Amino acid sequence: MLFRLRHLVLAFLLLPATSLMAAEVLVYKTPTCGCCTAWIDHLKTHGFDVKSVDLRDLTKIKQQHGVTRELASCHTALIDGYVIEGHVPATDIKRLLQERPPVAGLAVPGMPMGSPGMEGPVSEPYAVVSFEKSGRTAVFSRH
Ligand code: CU
Ligand code: CU
Repeated sequence: MLFRLRHLVLAFLLLPATSLMAAEVLVYKTPTCGCCTAWIDHLKTHGFDVKSVDLRDLTKIKQQHGVTRELASCHTALIDGYVIEGHVPATDIKRLLQERPPVAGLAVPGMPMGSPGMEGPVSEPYAVVSFEKSGRTAVFSRH
């Protein structure tokens, strides 16, 4: 019995990092948002389990989760207690879940060309910002 238990513990320790971060992402988006679907595909490619809910109006969802107008983008997602607004790269979400800073979430305000789900001929530099319930924001990463 003890032997088996050890095996279980060992198997758990050997799980790849992606399955440890398999927390589900819940995405609120509008029904016809193509770039939202492209971003969801980007998350799936990076191992995230994604569920999406279509809503005509996301204003309430954004208000509920502390997403101000300055931070707002086309979709609002929730994962493991954090809010993810807009085209935030999967790598930043993984870093957020690993470091677990005391913020409400991450946002890529607007819809910068070249961000995940917004790929095209032009790529513009953009920042991923962390935001707090108080409204305070800080640069989390630059791309
Ligand atoms: Cu978008
Ligand atoms: Cu979107």
